[in-house]
Amino acid sequence: MKIRNIRICGLKAPLGLDERTPDISWELASERSDFIKENIRQQFFEIIVYKGKQPIWKSGRRGSEAQRCTLQGIRLEPCCCYQVIVKVTITGGISTEGTTNWETGFLGIKGWEGKWIGPDRRMRQNVDMGAAFSTINPEESGEAPGDSVKDLYPIVRFDHSLMLKGKNMIRARIYVTARGLYEVQIDGKKVGDMELTPEFSAYGHYLQYQSFDVTGMLSTGGETVSVYLSDGYYIGRIGMIGLGYDYGEHISFLLQMEIEYEDGTIQKIISDDTWRYAETHILYSDIFIGEKQDLTALEKKADCVPKVFEDDKSVLIGQSAEPVKVLDILPAKEILTTSKGETVIDFGQTICGRAEICLNGKLGEEITLEHQEILDEAGNFYFNIPRFNCEQTDIFILRDGKQTIRPRFTYHGFRYVRVSGCSQGIKKEDCKAYVLGSGCEKTLEFECSDNRLNQLQHNIWWSQKSNFVSIPMDCPQRERAGWTGDIQIYSETAGCNAYVLPFLKRWLTQVRLEQQEDGEIPIVIPYSKGYQNMQRQFDGHTSAGWGDAGIIVPWKLYCAYGDESVLLENFDMMEKWLAYVQEQAKVIPDDAGILSEQEKEYQKYLWNSGFHYGDWLYPSAKNEEGISDAFLSAITTKNLVAPIMYAYSVQTMVKVCNALGKQKRASFYEKLNRKIKEAFAAVYVQEDGTILPELQGIYVLALRMDLIPEKSKEHAVFRLAELINENNGCLDTGFLSVPFLLDVLYDNGQKELAYKLLFNEKCPSWLYEVKKGATTMWENWDAVTEDGKPNVTSYNHYAFGCVGSWIYRRILGIQSTSPGYKTFCIQPDFDCGLEYARGRYHCVYGDISVSWNKCAAGIEIDIEVPVNTDAEIKLEYHNHEIHTGVGCGEYHYRLS
Ligand code: BGC
Repeated sequence: MKIRNIRICGLKAPLGLDERTPDISWELASERSDFIKENIRQQFFEIIVYKGKQPIWKSGRRGSEAQRCTLQGIRLEPCCCYQVIVKVTITGGISTEGTTNWETGFLGIKGWEGKWIGPDRRMRQNVDMGAAFSTINPEESGEAPGDSVKDLYPIVRFDHSLMLKGKNMIRARIYVTARGLYEVQIDGKKVGDMELTPEFSAYGHYLQYQSFDVTGMLSTGGETVSVYLSDGYYIGRIGMIGLGYDYGEHISFLLQMEIEYEDGTIQKIISDDTWRYAETHILYSDIFIGEKQDLTALEKKADCVPKVFEDDKSVLIGQSAEPVKVLDILPAKEILTTSKGETVIDFGQTICGRAEICLNGKLGEEITLEHQEILDEAGNFYFNIPRFNCEQTDIFILRDGKQTIRPRFTYHGFRYVRVSGCSQGIKKEDCKAYVLGSGCEKTLEFECSDNRLNQLQHNIWWSQKSNFVSIPMDCPQRERAGWTGDIQIYSETAGCNAYVLPFLKRWLTQVRLEQQEDGEIPIVIPYSKGYQNMQRQFDGHTSAGWGDAGIIVPWKLYCAYGDESVLLENFDMMEKWLAYVQEQAKVIPDDAGILSEQEKEYQKYLWNSGFHYGDWLYPSAKNEEGISDAFLSAITTKNLVAPIMYAYSVQTMVKVCNALGKQKRASFYEKLNRKIKEAFAAVYVQEDGTILPELQGIYVLALRMDLIPEKSKEHAVFRLAELINENNGCLDTGFLSVPFLLDVLYDNGQKELAYKLLFNEKCPSWLYEVKKGATTMWENWDAVTEDGKPNVTSYNHYAFGCVGSWIYRRILGIQSTSPGYKTFCIQPDFDCGLEYARGRYHCVYGDISVSWNKCAAGIEIDIEVPVNTDAEIKLEYHNHEIHTGVGCGEYHYRLS
């Protein structure tokens, strides 16, 4: 037995953590010999925290199976290293221990001595608002992509001589952040491997700083420290209508370097007006537009005096989730010469990241790399994002000879890169794609006998990986925004695929900070200026199903990881959100007509006014030309979907209150739920269970939230099945209903239909995308027509990938029955049409694995249950049944 994966606030050995009462968690890794003794459990644990050799906090020996402990009452000092020892005693009195370190950050603003400094510049010209809404393909309009770059400034480099006091140092740290993006170098070498620092966040309330251990770098060098600074998310164009300057008018950075010597002295180097800066060879860099580098330019001496900015450090917080990094480096799959004669690199995978080419250049030649996600039906380069933010273009002015080109302060969503301006040509082996993302550890492996399903799981994972970049984004090209509805529907699958607890907890902190006075949770978090402007036309900041992320996401995290702090931290926000919805529900819609007293009473419990995104993008919502019409999907469903979402959040809140032992609040919400149900049934559900307009998504949602009276349910299920059959056996669900579609069918006697939808290849369906060669999830079900014509949409949107958790729950059959999988059930559905399925989910207690295989004699099943958990095994094949409860161990069964 070993202790592994000791985490501090969900992170491994973090540096610069600004948490005064951190949470320690650990895993017990069983070895084969332990497994022979089945049902091993943790009997006691003990935590001791040391500062140097001095123990400063002890939990005492606790008789508990919990594998988490909050260091209540500990007194931590800023910028200090701590060691934690976890001791565990398991069944049979065997003891084992594990250890890790972490370091605190400033734990407040007091220790910061650095000053905000930046280039002394005027705010550049703002971009024309009209262009923001243009849907014209730039090629057709004659506007060259990149036209909007004329007002961008070069990236700057700040230098400072270090003048170290000697080499006998024991510890050196850099604490740094920026209003913009930064990269720190020591003697020309990049410090650390993080990308896009300090990352995207709700800068007005929450700005991360990073902490780097530079002891090694200084002991072998240490002449100069440099900071490169770009516009980044702070003043660059962001979001759908990114005009720039969402958070301020100037870029700047803040740095503090602390070097501790053997004699106990500390040398501090801070950002201040003694630094000097120069413009670099990076002529501009914008997250959405792209980057331009002049590789012929000579490095300039830094001799400009920086501007010192007002001293606001109140929003600083140490990095609290996995940093953005290069997660993979992919080779090019092919270099295409299209029928238009263009050179296009195909990386074979849609990603979020950067392309790199090593090439032979001619002095002054300008090479352009444009990034998009799909080719058209003739195999030519296609602008799938032809709006305001379509550019995604990097330009390099070349030197003579061999050189490597790659942008540094931007990234793109792409699979294809159009290369122009390179007379010497490029070779496949010289092209690479650097995949960027917040490195949340992958927790799911899945494989089955149907390769299409394997590809679907691959596509879901890649859409998650390429959209979990600082925040949960909708897509990595057009908007890169934290749309709350998308993660609301996807968070369950996200928690299956990866360890997303710190990542989403950090985002939820920003949701709390951006919640409006009246309780509204905005449609997008961070709620940047562009989106605030956009929402003005809708007269509100939120939408049903989007704002509900404030309740659903914490709940899904609690279910996945069993960490109640995520509920506690967000509880007030949840209550405030529901208080807001309760008020909104009281508004009687304008078209309600004359109502009786009873009808008025019902209306108080129905949230059916205002604008909502509804069952966004259900596929039959099409305009007269037969093109998918997102706003039509919103308008036709919003008044039904909003009250259902209200019920969903209230029902979830009952569970939240019960989990936190808040019985009074639980009964309040239970009562409220009953009222909503009664009102919904009276106003929207006909006697026989019909709901008009008849839409698959509405039936799915109403059935799932139990809003159809018992006596009429059967008819509603029957109508749902009929609607699917009448629709060519295809789904017709949008964002909010799709997470429940297969479960509702499965749980209501329509299992075959659920599988029919899952394995369907006709449009719209999950496997249609696979059939069409998708490598990530599409935003629209019909993004590519049967005859291969692409649409203007995102090809990397995880939202419809929410089916991932269903596949894992039903086909692998792993179903949690208590928070964090302390207890779970293994109940694979062998009648799902597959020959075999195997997979592994790494829960907070360790690996749960299931492998089943049909053979001549019947079916063989192998199951692994991690230490300290209980599993209920329910296997059923033909007339043979096994139903048993087990503790940890490896188990083999055969059913014939
Ligand atoms: C985004 C979505 C989002 C939606 C709002 C889109 O532009 O990409 O994923 O949820 O707007 O309905």
